[in-house]
Amino acid sequence: MTVKAQSETITSGNLPVTPRPLYLAPLRGVTDVIYRNTYAEYFSGIDLAVAPFVTTHAGRRIKPAHVRDLRPEDNRHMPVIPQVLTKSAEDFITLADHLFDMGYDVINLNCGCPFPQVANKGRGSGLLCNPDSLDRLLDAVLSRISNRLSIKTRLGRHATDEIRSILPIFNRYPLESVTVHPRTGIQMYTGVPDLETFAWCLDQCRHPVVYNGDITDVKGFQALAQRFEGVAGWMIGRGMLANPFLPDLLKKGQALDDAQKTNRFQQFHDALFERYRDRLSGPRHLLDRMKGLWKYFAQGYRSSETARKQIHKARSIAQYQGAVTAFFKYGLEWKT
Ligand SMILES: Cc1cc2nc3c(=O)[nH]c(=O)nc-3n(C[C@H](O)[C@H](O)[C@H](O)COP(=O)(O)O)c2cc1C
Repeated sequence: MTVKAQSETITSGNLPVTPRPLYLAPLRGVTDVIYRNTYAEYFSGIDLAVAPFVTTHAGRRIKPAHVRDLRPEDNRHMPVIPQVLTKSAEDFITLADHLFDMGYDVINLNCGCPFPQVANKGRGSGLLCNPDSLDRLLDAVLSRISNRLSIKTRLGRHATDEIRSILPIFNRYPLESVTVHPRTGIQMYTGVPDLETFAWCLDQCRHPVVYNGDITDVKGFQALAQRFEGVAGWMIGRGMLANPFLPDLLKKGQALDDAQKTNRFQQFHDALFERYRDRLSGPRHLLDRMKGLWKYFAQGYRSSETARKQIHKARSIAQYQGAVTAFFKYGLEWKT
């Protein structure tokens, strides 16, 4: 079955907007349940999130802590698809069954994680340089799990043409969708997405294809949307962390002014801060988490590096709060 979206552009105000679903990308250590819920409270435009990966463990028992962020009662504000990182069919099935019992009828397999400690063990993007193992994994898993499976992939581990052996394998199985981040694993996040090879994937894949990679502003997005009219959806990660208004802008074409945006963003930041303060143990963890977020947050603003460095230097909660207040008082311009 080929499911390809029809070409369509809707205009709102003077901006063309997308009718396709927007997905929040999984970012481990960032887009956890607290981030997702708080985002949904202050912003809109995201239809569905893929949660950061859960690794499988050998043995039958799943510890509640492994799937804590996926408790359905905590995930009512933003629909979520759990993601699994594994190379073991048995362990995958155990976790998939557990997730099915929790209510997840769709789960996602990570075929993209670029980190050597993961990929060198044949997981994440490490699955892509061994097509036979990937084939055996999908064969063993798909005949035995009750969930439907989607895949999130890079173009290869070492080279973009690895996808040319992988995609025919994906095409042999009943997959919900394939999200393609058109980089290789060894590229990590450097260089630019390989749009030529993405075009090949879109053409050749018989499953709905979701595009992911470097969507950071309206102009860049429109160029992608015009070129790839057949995509089933768009997945946004870092661009949305930097500019949480972006999904709504792509969906509705409506923009707030800079002061309104900063005001909303500050409320969002403050809510996140309080929720992480409740969840994380001690000021050190809280500071690390918030400083990590600011690496993305500050990128939404022009000329924000000096102000961000002050936040980064904070050694106590009081210093952090002072630096954040100063950041918002600068009246910095948003990039988009
Ligand atoms: C800090 C960080 C954590 C990530 N964690 C995951 C993950 O758990 N699962 C996954 O499939 N991709 C993960 N990714 C990759 C993103 O989902 C996404 O594919 C990538 O950032 C490209 O999209 P973007 O340019 O819109 O951010 C991660 C990326 C970053 C930067």
